[in-house]
Amino acid sequence: MSWKTGLKIASRISRIVEPPHRRILKEAASRRSAVMNLSVGDIFIEPHPLVKDAVRKASEESSLTYPPVEGFNELRSLIAEYLMESRGLDVKAENILVTAGASEAFLVSLMTVLDPGDRIVLPDPTYPQHTIAANLFDDVTIDYYSQDSEVSSQVAGEKDRRSLILVCSPNNPTGKVIPPRDMEKLVEHARENDSIIVSDETYLEIFFNGNKPVSPGSFDASLENTIIIGSFSKNMGITGLRLGFVASDKNMISRAGMVRYATSLTSNTLGQRVVLKTLPFIDEITEYVRMNVEKRLRMFMQGFRRMDLLNVYEPQGSLYMFPYVPFKSFKFCLELARETGVVLAPGEGFGPHGENHVRISFGAKEEDIKNAIELINNFKPKSLENEQ
Ligand SMILES: Cc1ncc(COP(=O)(O)O)c(C=O)c1O
Repeated sequence: MSWKTGLKIASRISRIVEPPHRRILKEAASRRSAVMNLSVGDIFIEPHPLVKDAVRKASEESSLTYPPVEGFNELRSLIAEYLMESRGLDVKAENILVTAGASEAFLVSLMTVLDPGDRIVLPDPTYPQHTIAANLFDDVTIDYYSQDSEVSSQVAGEKDRRSLILVCSPNNPTGKVIPPRDMEKLVEHARENDSIIVSDETYLEIFFNGNKPVSPGSFDASLENTIIIGSFSKNMGITGLRLGFVASDKNMISRAGMVRYATSLTSNTLGQRVVLKTLPFIDEITEYVRMNVEKRLRMFMQGFRRMDLLNVYEPQGSLYMFPYVPFKSFKFCLELARETGVVLAPGEGFGPHGENHVRISFGAKEEDIKNAIELINNFKPKSLENEQ
């Protein structure tokens, strides 16, 4: 007799770990009537009036047939123009593939350029989904660089192994911005070593205190060694519409378009029409989102008094900070969630040096942040006294 335990799962799936905040969230929801979720990178901000208006108009005029695989041509041209103005790139519609968010853009890019034997170099700590995507490839080495020192001086690999170097500036989860000089050196390094820089620019427009990030594309205008992973999720506050893009050299984009036949085929019509209408106003919309995120961050910095629990600091950009916590991060988050309903993301899910940190999101609801500050200020972690 055979004892079947379910379908046999591909061995690569054993390398994938569920983001730990999901368990913490379930735990909080099962025990507390009020849950303050500061663990996810969503934008709980009323959409900008221009976005709401565009959604209304787009829903009236949209045909619901398949759009082109690469995205509406008009939108590809508009994205190319936006990249020329915001990053100084020298690109056209043929350099753009519209995708279902940065998530699909990243996976499709890896599927298009990554070969067995290649190496992917991620920041440490890193956004967990980058690790998940990298782990879907067999015979690819994953290395890390520290965010505490110059990126360009840490990424050299072996001569016969091609490297894909991921930058994410401002960073999820640390909120750090790579200084322009370091980015320029990294582009020089990629050029000399035939490496590829994959630049996740999900948060490029969300920065604080004048810490303006720079795209590697600003030093590689025709994107010969650079793949830009773009997203309208955060800078327009439209996470649910699933709109992003890949920008790179035209051959890469045309190959990525073929890969795209096997993923989502095309991006949704409604979302594309919304971005077509709102992209000309992106500066205004992004400033609205940025100001709301900064307001929540300031509320937190002003009200928070428990440096003994969380070593908080001002991030340079993104939606997050990633403070040190003198406990095992999962246990700390679990007890905090059980006792208070406040959900933070345990750092153990964010790469080799994520442990002993937690990620706090300032895209969370203002009310939740206000209540969470009070609850954390009064939190006494009983079961954690001997954990340090
Ligand atoms: C660094 C980073 N890249 C990509 C994504 C995914 O973005 P999208 O909604 O465009 O798929 C996120 C979402 O939180 C992110 O933080």
